[in-house]
Formats: sequence, C-alpha cells, structure tokens
Amino acid sequence: MSSPARPSNPDLDHLIIVRTRSTLRARVENWRQAGLRIALVPTMGALHEGHLSLVKMAKANADKVIVSVFVNPLQFAPAEDLERYPRDEQGDMIKLNTVGADVMYVPDPEEMYTPNFSTSVRVDDVSEGLCGAARPHFFGGVTTVVTKLLLQALPDIAVFGEKDYQQLCVIRRLVRDLDIPVEILAAPTMREHDGLAMSSRNAYLTDHGRQVAGQMNVALKAAASALAAGEAVGRVADQGWQDLMDAGFDTIDYFEIRDAETLEPLGTGPLSGPARVFAAAWIDKTRLIDNWAV
Ligand code: PAJ
Repeated sequence: MSSPARPSNPDLDHLIIVRTRSTLRARVENWRQAGLRIALVPTMGALHEGHLSLVKMAKANADKVIVSVFVNPLQFAPAEDLERYPRDEQGDMIKLNTVGADVMYVPDPEEMYTPNFSTSVRVDDVSEGLCGAARPHFFGGVTTVVTKLLLQALPDIAVFGEKDYQQLCVIRRLVRDLDIPVEILAAPTMREHDGLAMSSRNAYLTDHGRQVAGQMNVALKAAASALAAGEAVGRVADQGWQDLMDAGFDTIDYFEIRDAETLEPLGTGPLSGPARVFAAAWIDKTRLIDNWAV
C-alpha cells in the first residue's frame, strides 16, 4: 500500500516498485529458482548519469537488476544534510524504467531500521583517514546499510562507483572479511563537460560554486601528472591543497595521495607503486569529493 504522501507511480512498462523486504525476497526467490543472475546497485536516489552507468554495468553482467533508493539516516551526522538531501522518487522511477532496471527497491526508514535496531557493522583500517577522518560516523552507517541491502537482495553481483573510491575499498574489505558471497564490480566516474564528478549534491551549488567545483578535478589531474613525472608526494600534496584554495574552495578536508589498494599514506618522497589522489573540499556549504588514478 502506498501512503498519501507518496507520488503516484508514473507509467512504467518494465520497472517494478518494491517497498518491503518480504516482497523483495519473494521476487528474488522466483528469479533464483529460474536460475537467473541478480545484480544490486545501492543508491541514495536523486539519480544522475553516474548512477545510471552503474545500472548499465549491472545489466551487462546480470539477468535482473535491483536498484535500491534509500537515503540512509545512519550515514549522516546530526549536523549534516539528511533533511535537505535531494529526493526525486518519481524522476528516479522514470530514469530506472528507461535504462531497463527490473526492480526499484524503496524501503522506508522504518522498514530498514525496526524499533530497537541495535547492530552495526564496522570495518577498520581502510575506513580510517580521508572521509573516515572527516566524517567519523559515515562508513559505519554505509557498511551497516550495505550489509543489510546485500542480505535483503541476496545478489550475485553488486556495483559501486569509483567516484566514492574509499567507499568501494571499504565495501570490498567488508564482503571479504564477512565472507558475503557477492562479487563487487567497480564503475568509472562519470563527469560533466568540465570534468566535475557527477553527484546528487551538485544540485546545491550556486553558479559561482559550480565554477569553483569544476576546478577540483583539474587539481587532481595536475597532481597525478606531477606524480607520474616523479615529483615527491609531499610537494604534490601541498601544491594540490594550494590549487584548491586558489580555486576558491572555502574549506579543504584533505588533499592526499594514498596507495591505490590499501589506501595507506605514502610518505613524502617519489612514488614506488600504484597510487591515487584524493580530495574533499567545501563550497557553498556543500562537501564535494573526487579522486584520480596516477
Ligand atoms: P550515492 O551517493 O547515491 O551513490 C550510489 C552509487 O553511485 C555509489 O556506488 C557511488 O560511488 C556511485 N556514483 C555516484 N556518483 C557517481 C559518478 N559520478 N560516477 C560513477 N558512479 C557514481 O554512495 C552512496 O549513495 C551510499 O553511500 C550507499 C552506497 C548507497 C549506501 O547508502
């Protein structure tokens, strides 16, 4: 049953809307019995081309695709943007129908977190530093909800974006450590014309903020080229920080170079292995993150 506050479903010729765990389970059970391969794409909605590229990758690697749309309260701190986080259920339905997703799973917070919900899933090590340092509550909320989504949907594969590269590493560690039988696929970052990584939070930006935001990927790219040319990690990180300040960002959470797999810090000298450059900074009271391979 849909509550009066919910928008009416647009005409959907393919997509099925599911709001409860039990309905999701029943559908997955049918597919399993038919021997079908199932993919899950977890999202928080306000879908853009970045999200849809994950759905396309899921479709190319599975028979049935479930996209979850759930703005997870557990991964927002009290002072963060949970209330104003963009929500567009009807628009999301239309987009998912167009790209051929099979199920849009939209649980209410009460369906996801029953009264007295008392369990959390925590991944140490890769969750520390970068976004884990700037948002200490964040990865615990992500790993708890992703564990629940994986158990609810029981997919063969799940797709995550490199846009949130640390999150991807944390999820890989989670499924490895807890023996969750799912294959994690990584999708490349989709970008606007000026290279700005697509993000639901870009909707918060003023025209000026949007201009500034477009400089983050430029700073990351410059750092990656300097590292590839043999410049020292410490110097490149300092320059990247300066580039973001010069571009007009209000506050910088980090500009760091880390090991591409373990996410460990790399000292200050030249690189000796695969690395990745990471940045997080604020403009228009909006926190933007991005990363670039060296
Ligand atoms: P959300 O920010 O909605 O992102 C959902 C997925 O889309 C993530 O895997 C993210 O990395 C990917 N994504 C976002 N922008 C992208 C872009 N420009 N290009 C490619 N992929 C992109 O990440 C979350 O939601 C949540 O933390 C979640 C995993 C759903 C748990 O609540």
